[in-house]
Amino acid sequence: MNQTIENVRRQHDLLRQQIVLYNYQYYVLDAPTIPDAEYDRLFRKLQYIEQEYPALVTPESPTQRIGAEPLKTFSQVAHEAPMLSLANAFEPVEVEAFDRRVREGLAVSAVEYAVEPKFDGLAVSLRYENGVFKTGATRGDGYTGEDITLNLRTIKTIPLSLSSEHVPALLEVRGEVLMFSADFIRLNKQHVETGKKIFANPRNAAAGSLRQLDSAVTAARPLKFFAYGIVSNDDPNVPHDTHSAIIQYLSRLHFPVARECAVVKGCAELLAYYQEIAARRGQLPYDIDGVVYKVNSLAQQARLGYVARAPRFALAHKFPAQEAITKLQDIHVQVGRTGALTPVARLEPVLVGGVTVTNATLHNADEINRKDIRIGDTVIIRRAGDVIPEIVSVVVAQRSENTQPFVMPQHCPVCGAKAVRTAGEAVSRCTGGLFCPAQRKQAILHFASRRALDIEGLGEKLVDQLVDNAIVRNPADLYRLGILALVNLERIAEKSASKILAAIEKSKQATLARFIYALGIRNVGEVTAKDLARHFGSLDRLMDTDMENLTQVPAVGPVVAQSILDFFAEKHNREVIERLRASGVRWEESANAADRSAENHAINGKIFVLTGALSEMTREEARGKIEMYGGKVAGSVSRKTDYVVVGEDPGSKYEKAVSLGIMLIDEDQLKSLLQSV
Ligand code: IVH
Repeated sequence: MNQTIENVRRQHDLLRQQIVLYNYQYYVLDAPTIPDAEYDRLFRKLQYIEQEYPALVTPESPTQRIGAEPLKTFSQVAHEAPMLSLANAFEPVEVEAFDRRVREGLAVSAVEYAVEPKFDGLAVSLRYENGVFKTGATRGDGYTGEDITLNLRTIKTIPLSLSSEHVPALLEVRGEVLMFSADFIRLNKQHVETGKKIFANPRNAAAGSLRQLDSAVTAARPLKFFAYGIVSNDDPNVPHDTHSAIIQYLSRLHFPVARECAVVKGCAELLAYYQEIAARRGQLPYDIDGVVYKVNSLAQQARLGYVARAPRFALAHKFPAQEAITKLQDIHVQVGRTGALTPVARLEPVLVGGVTVTNATLHNADEINRKDIRIGDTVIIRRAGDVIPEIVSVVVAQRSENTQPFVMPQHCPVCGAKAVRTAGEAVSRCTGGLFCPAQRKQAILHFASRRALDIEGLGEKLVDQLVDNAIVRNPADLYRLGILALVNLERIAEKSASKILAAIEKSKQATLARFIYALGIRNVGEVTAKDLARHFGSLDRLMDTDMENLTQVPAVGPVVAQSILDFFAEKHNREVIERLRASGVRWEESANAADRSAENHAINGKIFVLTGALSEMTREEARGKIEMYGGKVAGSVSRKTDYVVVGEDPGSKYEKAVSLGIMLIDEDQLKSLLQSV
């Protein structure tokens, strides 16, 4: 084959492998190893090569996660093996009975179980043929489901191809698609503001996002996947002993699995696991509705078999429903950062799943009307994990005569400015803008919040005082605060004042993503801010961009793009940004010293393997340089290898590295690593 094409092919292959690995580190392990801007540069390079050489595009390329025409309907797919359901238990006695049946069925005195959380999402099945993701389906009736392959391809934690030494000819991976609670809250908030459908809980949001005929809609939704089982045709490459070995195998294939998976023995340990997970439920990033117990030995599973459509070897131990009945005492209207007026239910305090609930979100006036909620009603409320409680429905049978319908105020309850509801939007907004103290306070609180510039100690009470006394009007004013201004406020002693000043000083060292998020641009949440930082690499480039460039950012559609353009078109906002920069707020932009120091990490103590001829240095020179900076050069590739440097005509080490998923770099990348030291 033509030499240049062969070169391009190799470069393409290399880039593709690298990006797949970086994706895995970023999305599955949550531990990126390269700066966002560098990732973006590599991704664009891959896109560019594929544009120039379309023959190199394969469905497994990371560029191919979206890009299909919307479907008219979903087609049906038969599952390789049926997708079963699980028997349920709520009480410890039911768990004891399950364990007894298992022990008796196996004629043993104690059984080893694999235990894991029961994800509250949607069951899906992913079919891999010779290691390539071919079809993905919903559970359907258990035997046939709907073909949602295109939608599943957009979920970044689902590998499009499996890198392993031995890939089975056929592998169906079973697992659950879900939405993290924080992503769900953000999505609903965006939907409230743009008048789109509000989802009742993360599960519904995941379901609604997955059952889209247009995969571009799914791509814009923050979905996650967790694997919990497989189906394979007796392939020798797949573990045959235990369920826990299968979970480890899935993890080695780069599928996300729950961190909470464990192995226990006997009934007492099952119940202890249930208690432990129940206690940690609120801290998990996603909703679970119980735990699942599975006999660990696959041979024992086979002996126990199935009854009806559920296995005898497994049990779902579910948490009690987190619902309660209480009285709706009043409805207050809160003013948000973007002026949105949000009705909030004030409830007679009630205990739900161990937490006292006094407030519940009501989203907007349409939701209140749809559910026919009136002040004074008896209502059913639900808490799902960490998510803000919501009113499920009204107990109409208990409605008394003096209940009051809710009317959305025509004026902002804080500043008195007119409240308007734009056609097509579901929310009313205060038109007071930054003259409205409520909006100003919210903007400042958001700026200082933990995931934004993280100013510890700058809480609601302090911001109230600072804004009410006209000491602080916008985030830039925070950086002019002196000790005197603070100690003159109520309940601020000198010690806590200096702590706050130190926290403000510390916040000056930001990241671009955090800074963009902190600006509080409408419709720009944390994830979008990260995407924007990754794409543009510098604030100036973002501030001077246009609609066309913005909509190239993943998940940025015309609505979000317009919010960004509107924000930067506002002179006041640009002034605040300038003042923030002038006060010393800073962040790393692409390819500056901070980025290089991340790469620095990448060489010291790392193990390199060289394969193929380098063009500008001999292997010995390369070895000398790597060793000089604390790296090691090994003779063969193993799981311990960190980087394989690929030169001209690489040998079998290259293939080995690819099969083990080791990071491949070329001579130029090695040089830039060396130069950065
Ligand atoms: S195993 C043969 N493991 O629960 C057993 N299922 O009633 C097949 N689910 O809709 C299921 N978390 O999607 C299993 N860790 C877990 C699970 C889990 C959630 C769901 C599953 C299915 C339902 C079964």
